[in-house]
Amino acid sequence: MLRVILHYPGPEEQQWLSDLRQYLPGARVQLWATGLPPADYAVVWAPPQQLIDEQSGLKAVFNLGAGVDRLLQCALPPSLKLLRLEDAGMATQMAEYVCHALVREFRDFGDYQQQASRTQWAQRVPRVRDDFVVGIMGLGLLGGSVARAVRAFGFPVRGWSRSPHAIDGVACFSGRDALAEFLAATRFLVCLLPLTDETQNLLCRATLSLLPRGASLVNLARGHLLVDEDLIALLDSGHLSAATLDVFRSEPLPEMHPFWSHPKVSVTPHIAAQTLRHESLEQIAEKIRLLESGQAVSGIVDRKRGY
Ligand code: NAP
Ligand code: GLV
Repeated sequence: MLRVILHYPGPEEQQWLSDLRQYLPGARVQLWATGLPPADYAVVWAPPQQLIDEQSGLKAVFNLGAGVDRLLQCALPPSLKLLRLEDAGMATQMAEYVCHALVREFRDFGDYQQQASRTQWAQRVPRVRDDFVVGIMGLGLLGGSVARAVRAFGFPVRGWSRSPHAIDGVACFSGRDALAEFLAATRFLVCLLPLTDETQNLLCRATLSLLPRGASLVNLARGHLLVDEDLIALLDSGHLSAATLDVFRSEPLPEMHPFWSHPKVSVTPHIAAQTLRHESLEQIAEKIRLLESGQAVSGIVDRKRGY
């Protein structure tokens, strides 16, 4: 009988367990604990090293997220197959998050909200849409979905990725050599890159200074892509006008961190695209069935690239 272990600690753990059992009838699905018999597959988020060490016969590990940086912190057997979530309901959430932040800034809704709290009636001069260029770093499953959603509102959109892409209505740039040109005309920068050796600390003084004066940043990728002090310095100098941050070097964001109280920073608690139980487990169960019948699956992590 197929054996599957689940490691997803949290208040809904039992619900995840019972739903995974429903999606894999006929398999023995258990919560991971030390000393369990060898399993065929593991479904995990941020697994302890002990799980990897004890379960040395796994055919594959399924990561309960799109980003695999936490999983890659483990010492993993080189041949162990790792799979990440592909969309599973996250692409729509990302598009919603970015459209919300974009429209809020473009239409000055934050300022109107403050005015209303002072019973102040004052109309602002509308911004020019064609000047409000949205630049998306990362054109994968999530960045691509954001690009299409933003495009539907009529904003000029550009994207930056590792390899060349072609997306209708999106000016596509690729590779480190094209980064400066990509940033130079970006008014609203959205980061949806994976955290890898190449992207760590990429959002720093040197790169963010290449954005035009008054640009803003939305970081939805991982906290370690951003150098916090550099962002604060650029906001304070007026080079950048605003930042919307969902991910942080340390999570939860420490109580004393300056982002909490900075007037130009909006913080959300890593909710831009949450892992949805049914969508994720259905995808994983289907991939287990494909693997068991010897078929190809998508979403396999390329360890050399780091994503
Ligand atoms: P994906 O499909 O793998 O796409 C990653 C994109 O980043 C690809 O376009 C890739 O280029 C590009 N990229 C990678 N390394 C690069 C580099 N060095 N230079 C330029 N471009 C590079 O990943 P995804 O599913 O869209 O997810 C992206 C990230 O979002 C995840 O890794 C995770 O960190 C983050 N995330 C955050 C949340 C949240 O709630 N805040 C939720 C889910 C995911 P190529 O197309 O050329 O390969
Ligand atoms: C969440 O951050 C994910 O990587 O899915």
